[in-house]
Amino acid sequence: MMSTQPAIFSHEPVMVREITELFANVPDGVVLDATLGGAGHTTAILDAHPGLRVLGLDRDPAALEASRVRLAPYGDRAMMQHRRFDDLDAAMSEAGIDELSGALFDLGVSSHQFDSGERGFSYRHDAPLDMRMDTTESTTAADVVNQASEGEIAHLLRQYSDEKFAGRIARAIVAARPIHTTAELADIVASAIPAPARRRGGHPAKRTFQALRISLNKELEILPNAIDSAVRRTRSGGRVAVLSYHSGEDRIIKARFKQHATGGCECPNNLPCGCGASSVVRLVRVSSKPNAEEQLANPRSTSARLRVAEVL
Ligand SMILES: C[S@@+](CC[C@H](N)C(=O)[O-])C[C@H]1O[C@@H](n2cnc3c(N)ncnc32)[C@H](O)[C@@H]1O
Repeated sequence: MMSTQPAIFSHEPVMVREITELFANVPDGVVLDATLGGAGHTTAILDAHPGLRVLGLDRDPAALEASRVRLAPYGDRAMMQHRRFDDLDAAMSEAGIDELSGALFDLGVSSHQFDSGERGFSYRHDAPLDMRMDTTESTTAADVVNQASEGEIAHLLRQYSDEKFAGRIARAIVAARPIHTTAELADIVASAIPAPARRRGGHPAKRTFQALRISLNKELEILPNAIDSAVRRTRSGGRVAVLSYHSGEDRIIKARFKQHATGGCECPNNLPCGCGASSVVRLVRVSSKPNAEEQLANPRSTSARLRVAEVL
């Protein structure tokens, strides 16, 4: 059944109390909310810390539209731009900001995007196979499944969701083309997976949908540079916090933070460092999870991992 766009922007921000507290002692100035969404984290930060302003970015025009209304009462303490977060230098120059007091990345899709059936992110709603986070871009998930080679589809399924049956699914997709809707794709994937495996581990198309979304929106490709830019543009004492929701994202954050915390030094632990590398950050949180109460109240939060670095 085709569902319609929910009238209200529905997204429960994850670990909102922890995130707000993390910015309690950063220098006054501007915090980047790289993934503004419905502005849940931004409003909490603005309410708790009168010395902070927020520069909010989102690649989804619908998120910005909702946030503009919600953030209107904050006047010029809340700045918003339609932009991808790896375009940070341009965002800061447009806003007239030289340095950040902190940055927050709350990765992935919002519940609003996922639950808006017509956006085509979910196998739970039958809709055109779209999955664009930025609806002003032209390539959709349908273009990928109908134009990529069998090898390319198998590769992205393995790379972005560790899909065990990547080869079988890719073959079934290519044989069934053209594919136009989420329901068609979900059925094709389900029938490509052997029956015993189909009965285990949630919906059989879950991993295929996740991999297609990540690939189409270049979610992992653009992440390392975005984190590096945020660290580089944050002043001493400022903090960069990242909430990730799957191991592919978390691996990248862990590696970038390690690089900035060690300066790339690989000298043996038992010897003084001889390579001259210097740390740019100290690690404040390494992979914290939401508490049990939050996980129960907001199932989407169960996979969240929070990593935080403070710039030295
Ligand atoms: C998990 S939601 C953020 C929710 C937000 N923290 C809140 O409290 O409502 C992720 C948001 O980031 C946006 N997004 C994802 N990747 C992005 C990117 N590379 N650049 C800008 N926005 C991005 C999505 O469109 C989505 O609105």
